[in-house]
Formats: sequence, structure tokens, C-alpha cells
Amino acid sequence: MSGLFVICSAMVVWGATAATYCTEQILNIESFPGDSVGIPCRFVYTKSIGLVSDVEIAWKAGPHHYCGNEINNKSRNYTAPRYQGRLSVMGDPRTGNVALTLMNVTAADGVNYCCRILLRLPDGTTRQWQSASGTKLTIRGPSEMTVHQPPLIPALAGDTVTIPCHFYTNDKVSVADVQWGYGSYSACATATYGTTGLHGNNLEGQSTQLGAGLASIQIHQVKRSDSGWYCCKLRVTGDGKSYSRERNIGTYLFVKDRTSELNIRQPNEVTFSSSATISCSFSLPPGNDPLWLKVYWMFGNPNEGFAYHPDPEFIHPIYKGKTRLVGQSDLYLEGVDGMDNSSFYCRVAMRLCKATDPYRVDILIEEGAGTLLRVNDISSNWILYVIITLRCVAICILIPCGILGYVKLRGLIHKTSNKQRK
Ligand SMILES: *[C@@H]1O[C@H](CO)[C@@H](O)[C@H](O)[C@H]1NC(C)=O
Ligand SMILES: *[C@@H]1O[C@H](CO)[C@@H](O)[C@H](O)[C@H]1NC(C)=O
Ligand SMILES: *[C@@H]1O[C@H](CO)[C@@H](O)[C@H](O)[C@H]1NC(C)=O
Ligand SMILES: *[C@@H]1O[C@H](CO)[C@@H](O)[C@H](O)[C@H]1NC(C)=O
Repeated sequence: MSGLFVICSAMVVWGATAATYCTEQILNIESFPGDSVGIPCRFVYTKSIGLVSDVEIAWKAGPHHYCGNEINNKSRNYTAPRYQGRLSVMGDPRTGNVALTLMNVTAADGVNYCCRILLRLPDGTTRQWQSASGTKLTIRGPSEMTVHQPPLIPALAGDTVTIPCHFYTNDKVSVADVQWGYGSYSACATATYGTTGLHGNNLEGQSTQLGAGLASIQIHQVKRSDSGWYCCKLRVTGDGKSYSRERNIGTYLFVKDRTSELNIRQPNEVTFSSSATISCSFSLPPGNDPLWLKVYWMFGNPNEGFAYHPDPEFIHPIYKGKTRLVGQSDLYLEGVDGMDNSSFYCRVAMRLCKATDPYRVDILIEEGAGTLLRVNDISSNWILYVIITLRCVAICILIPCGILGYVKLRGLIHKTSNKQRK
């Protein structure tokens, strides 16, 4: 009995220490010479550290793991000579969300960038940590192509997931051949989808928006076993030149079965007539400090797509520009025309501070039971409006008239009595 207790408490302690500090950086960013590049860095530390008097950030750059020398350290006002005048640091370190911006990048800037975090405690001691691989910045030549995919897409089993692949060249693209690869590691190996046909019955490629440099893939009814890396491979022709990219770091798709740890609460049904706010609340699991937390709203039955997503690219066309969050998680719908009998599902995803290895993702994603939106049809209430209007007319016209008449009558009586006295 006591032996079991020791094992359990040891596991708890181990869990707590393993999750004391976390950092997340995007694995790869591509750009052209002369561009401005933003390199974000998120971090979190557990409350068990106690009071922290200051949070400081330094940026390091180099070709290897753990990057190299410091290129910026704000607390000692240092910027490496080759970055002077074109480097800026953004964000308040206390929020755990900072970024480095490099302006006018050149081929020589194509190295790894790591953010290093330093906590100063009131007793004079410090705690420091950083991401191991940082962000690899790749500078493509002016006659090459850059490719961008979102680093991570969290999803629930049953979702239809769209993974975008953006590409840019300095020419106008006329033809593109897109293939998608899949693998357990980044830079995916096996081909799963090509222009010649489907290699899986739930995959659908979309490369219709070629002018905009977008070639997405859609995966229907995702299952947990669809989790993994998805990379687009491109062969593009424009103005007689051809561009190709065989290897690409890709997007990590993380699919989870439905759970209910977050206790997401939203009303079963709401009735509105012009615009609507649907409330949503949830509880964070105790002892977990998320690296980031995102709120989405899905719509449809079953889920057809995003009515709200923090990245507007993912919002379904019918809701684009019409939705926003109020507070942390309530959905505001601007204009509810044609939305009668639609269901909206509040969805919360967070990256937990358990694994910072980019190949091991610790994500919690859950969805509420849904809110049915009822639109109150104004035309069926016209009789009510007529009655209210008539009452208003009565109040606004009849009462002042009555008062006026009364005042006039009194004035007349007064005049007559005056005359009589004379
Ligand atoms: C910034 O420089 C100071 C002085 O060299 C050093 O003590 C500190 O660790 C550096 N900051 C970070 C976050 O590495
Ligand atoms: C850095 O610069 C600020 C203002 O420019 C100054 O107050 C501060 O003392 C400087 N710090 C160091 C370590 O030189
Ligand atoms: C960008 O860098 C190049 C090469 O270092 C330089 O010639 C050019 O003037 C810079 N442009 C700006 C806007 O700073
Ligand atoms: C509302 O939607 C449900 C499911 O989509 C459907 O079964 C029902 O008939 C609809 N009701 C009305 C009044 O449109």
C-alpha cells in the first residue's frame, strides 16, 4: 500500500518538474532577400516557480542546434553589428508571446534563430531555458519559389480538414502540378495525393486558386490515424521559367478523439432578430499552463467549417468578415439573415506544457454540445409593431393636445373672469 503511494507521488513530482518550462518556435520560415521576417516565440513556466521579478529575452543565431551567439540582449542593450539598424524585438516578455523582426534579410541571414528566456527571482537567482532547434530561416534566391504551410493544425475526429499550401514566385504562375506527401516526420516521405489521382478515398486536392498561389488539400472525416505530417510538393511554371520543390517541412495534423475535460458550456438554443452573441465558457484543467490557447467556432450539422477562426484564412466564405470573438470566447455574429436553425459549436484548443519536442505534440482540443440559433422573423410580428406604433402616436399626440387644450381653456376662463371683474 505505502509502496504504491510512493510510486504515485514520485510520478507526480516527475511530471511537475518535466513541465516547468516550455518554448514553442515555428520550425521553418522561408523568405526572399530584402523581405522583413517576423520570428515568433511563445513560452510558459509553471506557477510553482513562485514569484518572478523580471522576465528577459535574448535572441541567438547560428547554423546549428541551440543556435549560436547572442545577436540581441535587451537587458544589456546589445545588438550584434551585422543586425544593427534592421532588428527589432516585439512583445512584452511577461505575456510569454514575443517576436524578433529582421528587416531587409540577405542570404547570410539564413540560419537558425533561438529565443532564450531568463527569469529573475526575488532571491537573486535566475532560471534560463530556450528552444533546442529554434526557427530555421531559409532565404530563397530571387529566381526561386518560397512555400508556406501552417506548422500545426489541431482537429477532432470526424472533421473535414483543409491544409493550405501557399507559394510565391516573382513571376505570374501559369501551371502548377501539386502532390501531397505524408509521413511520421517532417519533410514527409510517402506520396498520398497527386494530380493523377487519389491515393486515399478521403482526400481531395484543391489547386483552383492558382493565381493566388494556393494549393490546398482537403481530408474528409479525419481519424486519429490520419495524424502526421502533410507536405506539398510543387512544380510550377511561370513566364517560361519553372520552379519545383520536392522537400518541405509541412504541416503537422493532430487528430484527437472527443473528450470532455474542459467542461465547455454554451446555451442549447438562442433566439435573435438582427445580430447575436452566443456565450461560451470552459474550465482549464488544474495544474496545466498552456503555451497557447485558441478559441474557434464551428457551424453546421455535422461540422461544415469554421464560423470563426483566429486566422481569417480558415473562416468559411459565408462567415468571412461577419464574426468575431467577444471577451475570451463568446461569438458575435453580425447579421443573422439566413442563419435560422444553424448550430454553432464552441471549440477550444491549447498546447500544453508537457512536450516541447516538435515531433511530440501535447494538445487538448474539445468542443461544446452546440447552440441552435433561432432567428426571430420580424415580418410575422407586424401586428405587434402596428399596435406599439399606434400607442406611441396616441401618447405623443393626444396627451400634448389634451394638455394644450386644457391650458387654453383655463386661459379663456381667466380672461372672462378678468372681464367680469372690470
Ligand atoms: C543577457 O546578457 C546578460 C549579461 O551578459 C546575461 O547575464 C543574460 O543571461 C543575458 N540574457 C539572456 C536571456 O540570456
Ligand atoms: C540601456 O539603455 C537604457 C536607455 O537607453 C538605459 O537606461 C540603460 O541603463 C542601458 N542599460 C545598459 C546595461 O547599458
Ligand atoms: C538592403 O540591403 C542591401 C544589401 O545589404 C542594401 O544594398 C540595401 O540598401 C538595403 N535596403 C534597405 C531599404 O535598407
Ligand atoms: C432544423 O435543422 C434540422 C437538422 O438540420 C432539421 O431536421 C429540421 O427539420 C430543421 N427545422 C426547421 C424548422 O428548419
